[in-house]
Amino acid sequence: MKIVNILGSPRKNGTSTRIARAFTETAAIRGAMVTDYHLNDMQYRGCQACEGCHTRSDHCVLKDELTPLLADIQTADIVVFSTPIYFGDTSGQFKCFFDRTWSLVSTDVREEENSSRLPPGKTALLILSQVDTAEAHLDVRERYTMHLELLGFDVRAITAAGHRLQSDADVSPSLYSAAELARELLQDR
Ligand SMILES: Cc1cc2nc3c(=O)[nH]c(=O)nc-3n(C[C@H](O)[C@H](O)[C@H](O)COP(=O)(O)O)c2cc1C
Repeated sequence: MKIVNILGSPRKNGTSTRIARAFTETAAIRGAMVTDYHLNDMQYRGCQACEGCHTRSDHCVLKDELTPLLADIQTADIVVFSTPIYFGDTSGQFKCFFDRTWSLVSTDVREEENSSRLPPGKTALLILSQVDTAEAHLDVRERYTMHLELLGFDVRAITAAGHRLQSDADVSPSLYSAAELARELLQDR
C-alpha cells in the first residue's frame, strides 16, 4: 500500500497537516509506505498552459520539484490532498500544484468514463481546514471532489471547521475521523 501525502499548508504543525498525519501514521502502523510532500518547501511553477502534456508528451513537460510528486501519484494507492482555506479557496501553494494535475487528465476529457490518465482504483483523501463554520466553503469541497473524480479517484473528505491559526486548536474529532478512515481503507485492501 503506497500513500502520497501532499501538504498544502505552510504551517508544519497546522490543522490540516496534523489531520493528514493522523491518517498517515495510522496507515503506516498497518504497513503503508508514506511519502510526504510539503509544498511550501518545494520549488515549482504553476501550470504554464503550454499543453505539452497533451501534444508532445503524456506527462507534464515542466521539470521541477513537482515532477517526482506527479510521477508518484501514478503508482499510489491513496493520495492525501490537504490544504487550509485561504480567501474562499485552497492555499496558493496547493492551487499551483493542483493546476499541474491537468497533465493527469486525458485528451479524451469530454468522455466522462475516460477522463483520467491514472490507473483506476485510487482513493483521494481531501482535507480542508478553515476558521469559518462547516457550512462555509462547501463549494471548495464540492469543486475539488469533482476535480478529483475527473482524475478517477474515489474521494473521501474531511473538513475541520472553526480553527484559527493557533497550532494548539483542539482538532481531536478530525484526528479521530482521519485515523478511523485509515483503519477502514487499509482493512479493505
Ligand atoms: C491568507 C489567509 C486567508 C484565509 N482565508 C480564510 C477564509 O476565507 N475562510 C476561512 O474560514 N478561513 C480563512 N483563513 C483561516 C485558515 O483557513 C484557518 O486558520 C485554517 O484552519 C488554517 O489551516 P492550517 O493550520 O492547516 O494552515 C485564512 C488564513 C489565511 C492565513
